[in-house]
Amino acid sequence: MSAAKIKAPRGTFDVLGEDAARRTALEARARSVLEGAGYERIETPAFEATELFARGVGESTDIVRKEMFTLEDQGGRSLTLRPEGTAPVCRAYVEHGMHKRRQPVKLWYLSSFFRHERAQAGRYRQFWQVGAEAIGSEDPAVDAESISLLAALLAEMGVRGLRLRLSSLGSHESRREYRERLQAHLRANEQSLSEDVRSRIELNPLRAFDSDHPGTQSVMRSAPRLLEHLSAQDAEHFAHVRELLDVAGVVYEVDATLVRGLDYYTRTVFEFTSDALGAQSGVGGGGRYDGLVEQLGGPPTPGMGWAAGIERIMLAAENGPTGGSTHSPPPAPVELFVALESPREDLRTAAFGLLSEARSAGLSAQMDLGGRSLKGQLGLADTLGARYVAIVADAHTTLKDMQAGRQEPLATNAVVHAVLRGQHAL
Ligand code: HAM
Repeated sequence: MSAAKIKAPRGTFDVLGEDAARRTALEARARSVLEGAGYERIETPAFEATELFARGVGESTDIVRKEMFTLEDQGGRSLTLRPEGTAPVCRAYVEHGMHKRRQPVKLWYLSSFFRHERAQAGRYRQFWQVGAEAIGSEDPAVDAESISLLAALLAEMGVRGLRLRLSSLGSHESRREYRERLQAHLRANEQSLSEDVRSRIELNPLRAFDSDHPGTQSVMRSAPRLLEHLSAQDAEHFAHVRELLDVAGVVYEVDATLVRGLDYYTRTVFEFTSDALGAQSGVGGGGRYDGLVEQLGGPPTPGMGWAAGIERIMLAAENGPTGGSTHSPPPAPVELFVALESPREDLRTAAFGLLSEARSAGLSAQMDLGGRSLKGQLGLADTLGARYVAIVADAHTTLKDMQAGRQEPLATNAVVHAVLRGQHAL
């Protein structure tokens, strides 16, 4: 008699054959999109001290309350298989003193994560995410760049029926006052709420927006909206993010009811869904987490990022990514660096538009996201080895060919064409 067969645990799967080839192709594309924008690869351990997620992701979240795979090591220390990547990356940022590096520090990962969820199509207990984190700058251009990169990656992967929802949760301070208003509304309607929402009125009232309980949904329709109670500074930050996304041609809907399942978010939050997926329609999402690094023992440091599920991308992508190269191309050198002559808002918007246009045309392009002076920006372009530098100014843009040592004044919308022509001429 043969021994009983052993199967992979529920909610897990083997990666092999065609599936493995598609993943390799996806990884190559992610690498070229993200490294082309100045992100460096990071990989953190598969397990961490449990406290990292309890503190980082939040005690009131479903993830920490019921979805973590936690074990004790032989020394009695509590360890947890990572359910997400942002807290570990921030832990690494603090542990390696990355605040001393050029800010923002831009890092990407493609790793497996673990959540004890009810397994179904598109929802697994071990799954993969590609993620990108930009830590150390609160510039709205960081938010817009980060979201644009995920939009570009999903489009490149052929993900169908994409929708992008965008909102702002404000800073912790502006949220405090709003929480009290929302709690009052929930308490006044307590009898119509689900058990779960009622139990979280104190801890996490915002999650009530996420409920699929009909009574709760009807209470939430008349609930005060956080977007209408942002501080002037937070509202201005959000307006800039939207303006830059418009300039980059990223289509989105502002959705004041958007909440995310992790507690660290501040200001910008967003989520991409695909109507090609069933109930698990979230392909990727993220936002700002301006207090997280400090909460993990580092200096006060803003951060912004996202993660997207590899399995969900593959389910929602028509054919791709198949047949692509199975090895990653070397990261592209910076072909165009976009600088601004002075730190004016309108110049920054124009510069961001040029950056987006250059990337759409397939150029590897970067701009400063750390608020540097013109001299500092040119120093950065030099460090990055940029082939061309465009300095966006009032009257025109100056395009410098760093190799030939030439420069010419151009209309901003003629720069990409000139760089492409210049490259062909080489
Ligand atoms: P999240 O929304 O929890 O965010 O997960 C991001 C993506 O991972 C989801 O949109 C989904 O595609 C995929 N995903 C999540 N859980 C599962 C599962 N059980 N099975 C399959 N796919 C899943 C985060 O994890 C944040 N760390 C994102 C972030 C980065 N925010 C800022 N930086």
